Amino acid sequence: MFETTKRVMSAYGLATAFTVACAVSTSAQEAAQPSAEPRLSPTRVFAHKSGEALFNNVCAACHMPGGKGASGAGIYPPLASNPKLEAAGYPITVVLHGLNGMPPVGKMMTDEQVAEVVNYVRTHFGNSYEDKVTAQEVTQSR
Ligand code: HEC
Repeated sequence: MFETTKRVMSAYGLATAFTVACAVSTSAQEAAQPSAEPRLSPTRVFAHKSGEALFNNVCAACHMPGGKGASGAGIYPPLASNPKLEAAGYPITVVLHGLNGMPPVGKMMTDEQVAEVVNYVRTHFGNSYEDKVTAQEVTQSR
């Protein structure tokens, strides 16, 4: 009797985890495709130019709209109100070189695009780091 209850409980736990994971991946897919524009140019660099468009099409897939982060199948830290964005070198490095579960998406961006998207996240979602990074700084971090 006790054993059965335990098994039912753990099956319930699994089902819940599964539902959460699905919910996260569904909204991640939607967030990844808010527009019908091509995501990659023929040179396999992301086509979007503005920081906002790059965020919406690349970063939001994992970090969620508004940069609020997510957890489910994995942990996607919030970029919103994130004090680790204060030192601009940190987000530049993470975008260029990846970090554990985060792929190096900056390899498919120009230096200008990396600078744009880093500047965008550092000045939105509760972050107000106004010192803009330049494409040159990105070049030096590649
Ligand atoms: C495929 C999913 C994915 C995409 C796309 C993605 N990230 Fe991430 N990102 C992650 C994960 C997972 C981590 C956590 C890595 C760790 O700490 O182990 C992370 C961590 C970060 C961090 C470090 C946060 C902290 O608190 O230390 C920054 C900054 C960041 N991402 C920025 C971006 C930006 C900007 C983009 C878009 C250009 C982006 N990410 C796209 C998955 C993603």
